Amino acid sequence: MPLPKAELHLHIEGTLEPELAFELAARNGVTLPYATTDELRKAYDFEDLQSFLNLYYELMAVLRTEQDFADLANAYLARAAAQGVRHAEIFFDPQAHLSRGVSMGTVVEGLWRALGSWGSPRASEAERGGERNHGISTRLILCFLRDESAESALETLEAAKPYLDRITGVGLDSAEVGHPPVKFREVYEAAAALGLRRVAHAGEEGPPAYITEALDVLGVERVDHGLRCMEDPALVERLVRERIPLTLCPLSNVRLRTVDTLADHPLPAMLDAGLMCTVNSDDPAYFGGYAGDNFTAVQQTLGLPEDRLRELARNSFLASFLEDDEERRAR
Ligand code: HPA
Ligand code: ZN
Repeated sequence: MPLPKAELHLHIEGTLEPELAFELAARNGVTLPYATTDELRKAYDFEDLQSFLNLYYELMAVLRTEQDFADLANAYLARAAAQGVRHAEIFFDPQAHLSRGVSMGTVVEGLWRALGSWGSPRASEAERGGERNHGISTRLILCFLRDESAESALETLEAAKPYLDRITGVGLDSAEVGHPPVKFREVYEAAAALGLRRVAHAGEEGPPAYITEALDVLGVERVDHGLRCMEDPALVERLVRERIPLTLCPLSNVRLRTVDTLADHPLPAMLDAGLMCTVNSDDPAYFGGYAGDNFTAVQQTLGLPEDRLRELARNSFLASFLEDDEERRAR
């Protein structure tokens, strides 16, 4: 039995496996610039975040209909459930779809078709539970692309207004360096006023100062990645004191060369420092593993003992946006 866990850092578009990409391409009459799944897999040799993002956005061309988004999310839930995931807080990137003429409604309704509202406080009894959702409760987090303009982020939030009963929070992703959190102050203030929870990627490739800014200017409750906090002892002390959860993604860090090898990953030092770490998969189809694979990798390569693994799993539920009673049930 894999350790029950929550996944808090997962881009649904990053769960698009090559086989499904080709299936959807055929269904939608989209031609991919790769002849076979093997050829596509060969392109998964990334130098940095941007080289990954180029392929990530390119492959999204196959996602066109509600059913495509439903199929994508169902495939993720099946894989995640097999690895012990009981709860998933799922990022999606509407701007990457709106720019291709795919509407907010298509994306949200499609994802919702698969995710349903298992465990959602807003769900009716009839909507809860059941095999349909692989027993995984979910939340949706709308991410703004930080390499797009602040105006575009505001327009995206506006487009999401009819769907806010299905969206728990907002996040910030895509190319980090040169796009500091402060650029998105206004849209985060608007999101907070709408009652949305707030998270942001910070300190993946960007400097520790972006982590501080995400906390102070955007009011985030969790930091996605946050790896580079280790360069600033005063920031580490603050994150420990304020119990700010970090959603780490070890296999992603290796594939995007944020760390040289998994053996060099600072996770053990971060746990020893008292940081509230969680382990997640980021874009599992591209980075070589789902949540359980990330747990196994850090156990085997970093030699994390059982109690540390249990701490990581416990942190994942504590850092989630589940209500207390739901959190206890999910564990
Ligand atoms: N970092 C930033 N943006 C992203 C990522 C990531 O790892 N995956 C998808 N969008
Ligand atoms: Zn991410």
